[in-house]
Amino acid sequence: MTSRSPIAPASAPESGDLPASRLDPSTATPNADWWRTATIYQIYPRSFADANGDGMGDLAGVTSRLGALQELGIDAIWLSPFYTSPQRDAGYDVADYCDVDPLFGTLADFDALVAEAHARDIRVIADLVPNHSSSEHPWFQAALAAAPDSPERARYLFREGRGEGGSEPPNNWRSHFGGPAWTRVVEADGTLGQWYLHLFDSSQPDFDWTNEEVHDEFRRILRFWLDRGLDGFRVDVASSLVKAEGLPDFTPSDDDEMPPYDGRPAVHDIFRDWRRLLDEYPGERILVAEAWIKPLVRRADWVRPDEMHQTFNDVLDVWDAAPLRDSIDGALTAFDAVGAPTAWVASNHDGVRPATALMLTRAERDGGLGPRTTGIPAYDVSLPRARGMAMLMLALPGSVYLYQGEELGLPEVTEIPDSARQDPTFFRTEGEQYGRDGCRVPIPWESAAPSYGFGPGDASWLPQPAIWRRLARDRQETDPESTLNLYRAAISLRRSLGLDRGAIEWLDGYPPEVLAFRNGDTIVLANTSTEEVPLPTGEVLLASAPIEHNVLTPDTAVWIHA
Ligand code: GLC
Repeated sequence: MTSRSPIAPASAPESGDLPASRLDPSTATPNADWWRTATIYQIYPRSFADANGDGMGDLAGVTSRLGALQELGIDAIWLSPFYTSPQRDAGYDVADYCDVDPLFGTLADFDALVAEAHARDIRVIADLVPNHSSSEHPWFQAALAAAPDSPERARYLFREGRGEGGSEPPNNWRSHFGGPAWTRVVEADGTLGQWYLHLFDSSQPDFDWTNEEVHDEFRRILRFWLDRGLDGFRVDVASSLVKAEGLPDFTPSDDDEMPPYDGRPAVHDIFRDWRRLLDEYPGERILVAEAWIKPLVRRADWVRPDEMHQTFNDVLDVWDAAPLRDSIDGALTAFDAVGAPTAWVASNHDGVRPATALMLTRAERDGGLGPRTTGIPAYDVSLPRARGMAMLMLALPGSVYLYQGEELGLPEVTEIPDSARQDPTFFRTEGEQYGRDGCRVPIPWESAAPSYGFGPGDASWLPQPAIWRRLARDRQETDPESTLNLYRAAISLRRSLGLDRGAIEWLDGYPPEVLAFRNGDTIVLANTSTEEVPLPTGEVLLASAPIEHNVLTPDTAVWIHA
């Protein structure tokens, strides 16, 4: 990587004549183990940038905005799904794993994106959705048309119902989006027939990973994208591919008990197989697991040396020193034990944005926020914690994932009317939960442009709030105090100070509500208390809010050269 100045990032090369890429997968890898310390930026293609003006982001839009990400200083992007899909779960319902949905462009657009990203020294990771397909996938359509016990049905989890006439679901599992995890089909002769399992929406039938055909198909899919130059995969719902034999009922005795569709030992054989396949390719292609396994020591099984490269740590989503410290210690201990880096994350496309969430308890925000939610904090009150969390996270050793718009300090959009909602959670819970639309609103680039520069016109698949004018990237670029410039400086300093390669040591002598640690020559403090805390001596390198009178105010974090 080229060196980066903390405040004034080097201007990015214009697209057009691009230099030969150091990331060309056919050449020897310049950055072995690049992923151990990478800052990876999650792009939600629907909401990042819209080149054709239809109100839906697209791959050409992503390509056109890569310069801004290069300036931010990130090492890689992770693209949420852009595959052919009826979009019942925003693309996490895939109908063709080896093509681009026309909403997002074409395979040629994908190739252009990868080429441009590589020319800018940005690697490209994409979501892979192996737990379930779309119900419009040709395999599932063939399964519906075929008879019970046919090879077509054996790629999914079809079962007879229980009770009289099979009218009850085969077990008591619940969909993550609400309602039962089973849907009954109408057979070819018009009678009610078998049920199929879907841990998510009924349009997302689960594959049967005991079927070798499913394994072969996913090996083919992995190779398809690796051959096109993709640098890795974020594996969606990685922990649920294998279900307990017999699909037994599940009644948890406590919150931490893993259900029979999560973390089954056989799932590891799948990832060992994939790791061998990825290792055949040059350039350190990576696998990162979405596996919210508890306890953390078990999650480390996902990142043993012959399995995945990374698995996300628990989202850093509370502004409270004791649980944060536990989460940090727990992750470092668990992942160190298997030689894997920690993958820190403060937000993603499934959770309330930190600039709103960190003022609320989990119970207050789980299920999403909307117009009828009370007690939502004012933006200026809640932003400081998000800035403090960013500095805390970026001071930790390992890899960091940022979610688009986090670097702008975007809040959750709570004013989306019911009529504009899209998340299946909202519909499957009959509006009881708002779901995740509030963190998926198309992001602002230019304060004075239509759709705030998201696209060429006004169109935006979710309505954008008025506060986007104030938070647009162009405004923040010229404001030295902006959240964008805080992220730029922190990402750059993280590397130049060696925080990404370091190790932390907790410091005594601070109140319990203050997180205090040393990473190399840098002292990091994050004040989650309501009191001011005196600063130790040393040069202030970066602070999430102005430092005056040598004290750290509440909801602020600071890096000090010791
Ligand atoms: C993962 C994704 C989420 C999606 C679900 C089903 O949890 O992050 O967005 O709805 O899987 O694919």
